Amino acid sequence: MAKARALSGIQPTSGSFHLGNYLGAVRQWVELQESHDTYYCVVDLHALTAGIDPAKLHDATLASAAQLIALGIDPQKSTLFIQSHVPAHNQLGWIMECITGFGEASRMTQFKDKSAKNGSDRTVVGLFTYPMLQAADILLYQPQYVPVGEDQRQHIELTRDLAGRFNSTYKEIFTIPEGYILKAGAKIYDLQDPTAKMSKSASSTSGLIELLDTAAANTKKIKSATTDAGREVTFDGVNKPGISNLMTIHSAFSGASIADLENEFADKGYGDFKSSVADVVTSHLDPIRERTNELLQDKGELTRLLKVGSEKAALVADETVRQAYNAMGLIPRG
Ligand code: TRP
Repeated sequence: MAKARALSGIQPTSGSFHLGNYLGAVRQWVELQESHDTYYCVVDLHALTAGIDPAKLHDATLASAAQLIALGIDPQKSTLFIQSHVPAHNQLGWIMECITGFGEASRMTQFKDKSAKNGSDRTVVGLFTYPMLQAADILLYQPQYVPVGEDQRQHIELTRDLAGRFNSTYKEIFTIPEGYILKAGAKIYDLQDPTAKMSKSASSTSGLIELLDTAAANTKKIKSATTDAGREVTFDGVNKPGISNLMTIHSAFSGASIADLENEFADKGYGDFKSSVADVVTSHLDPIRERTNELLQDKGELTRLLKVGSEKAALVADETVRQAYNAMGLIPRG
């Protein structure tokens, strides 16, 4: 039986992924490769909506692809590609815009929040149509599953609505995908403010573990993580969010259960535990950073891998566009 297909995307908005990206998403993408026909895409067109600097976008896109490979996305197992290399994304994006209501798009919370914050004159239209481009990213490949974090639920719902609307208005073309909402256990918090999600948009980077940062820098951040009153290494997300977050991180890398960690550190203090977290994290990240840098030094190989990926992706995507155009009455070029 053919494997079910899964597709996801990640924005290249920063030179390095952080622990939240890895433990919250990419790690599950790697696992899915074994059981699913996986498509993973670096969504550079979406990053344009953030007004990103060209040199930064260029480097971040390549660094994102290199990190995905270093983290275990295997271009032999997955179709790994850059969104802008497959023009079908823009083509189907327009189709999605033409079947989305203005009010419906206005209710998307990401747009509402950002436009409320910055004012409508400083909000680009691309941010308004962002969800329609995302729907196109997904529907082009007819996936059954879309592995994403909880924050993407509304985007997946819209994608499902648009697929159903197209199917009933024009022709049954699209698979209605399901969100595969990634395990909440992998939720990683800021080291300085352990009640906030680890995110690159935090006001300071001191609570952010970046995969490509040096072992020394990450060790320092872990050792100065906010901890809680008391001195016992025990898990209590409400009263001890700082230590609990570090325990989640330790466990994710070492494979030790929370109970194992509580036993191991029963008569030790926060200092010993933080040293152990730093060791586990840096020993896992060292080879990932090295592999990423190798790929970035040999751009020829990276470019070749991405070209193969985009050619495979375009084959599927172009066929979907052809069917959608036909169904809507557009004339084939002949
Ligand atoms: N909006 C997603 C995010 O910010 C990124 C994204 C774009 C995406 N296109 C996608 C995720 C398609 C899954 C599928 O994380």
